Amino acid sequence: MRAFGPDDGPSVVDLVVAAGMFARDEAGFLAGGVLEPDGEGSTCLVEDAADGQGLASVLFYRPEDSAERAYDLTMIAVRPDLQGGGRGAALMRHAEDDLRERGQRLLVVRTSGTDQYARTRAFYRHLGYVEHARVPDYWTDGDDLVLFTKRLSA
Ligand SMILES: CC(C)(COP(=O)(O)OP(=O)(O)OC[C@H]1O[C@@H](n2cnc3c(N)ncnc32)[C@H](O)[C@@H]1OP(=O)(O)O)[C@@H](O)C(=O)NCCC(=O)NCCS
Repeated sequence: MRAFGPDDGPSVVDLVVAAGMFARDEAGFLAGGVLEPDGEGSTCLVEDAADGQGLASVLFYRPEDSAERAYDLTMIAVRPDLQGGGRGAALMRHAEDDLRERGQRLLVVRTSGTDQYARTRAFYRHLGYVEHARVPDYWTDGDDLVLFTKRLSA
């Protein structure tokens, strides 16, 4: 894994579109600098694919705006043909270890309640994330917000 660089925006867009997270015309904002370090703890890491075909994965987490020592897992994606091989779990462990070292308390995940994200929700549960809330029709009508957290320290 390496830090996201200014030239990685288009490759991240390709990855999140391939992973089904955004339509291409919705994903352009990711190429606009939002993933670059902000000096306040925001962290984006990418992994180059071994076959030279763009990125294998991307991980982005940033401090919650108001909560004390809490981070938001803003984005995680693994290239579809590489999913199910333990990459996602390794990325989550990396974020958790990094944030523990930084003295953080809580990692918050906001995902979707649609059938498309059933596997993603199972993934977070499997890694010890606890579902605490559902907000109906949050992302759009028929697409609920599902909020998970994991404590990083006692
Ligand atoms: C969610 C995502 C990042 C997971 O990455 P991944 O590399 O496929 O996941 P892993 O292979 O590391 O799986 C981790 C664990 O979850 C488990 N898991 C995966 N699917 C599961 C399922 N349907 N039910 C229960 N556990 C499941 C795996 O068995 C694995 O456990 P193991 O290591 O003990 O075998 C990836 O599938 C992805 O990019 N999805 C599309 C984008 C997305 O949904 N992003 C998150 C938006 S909030």
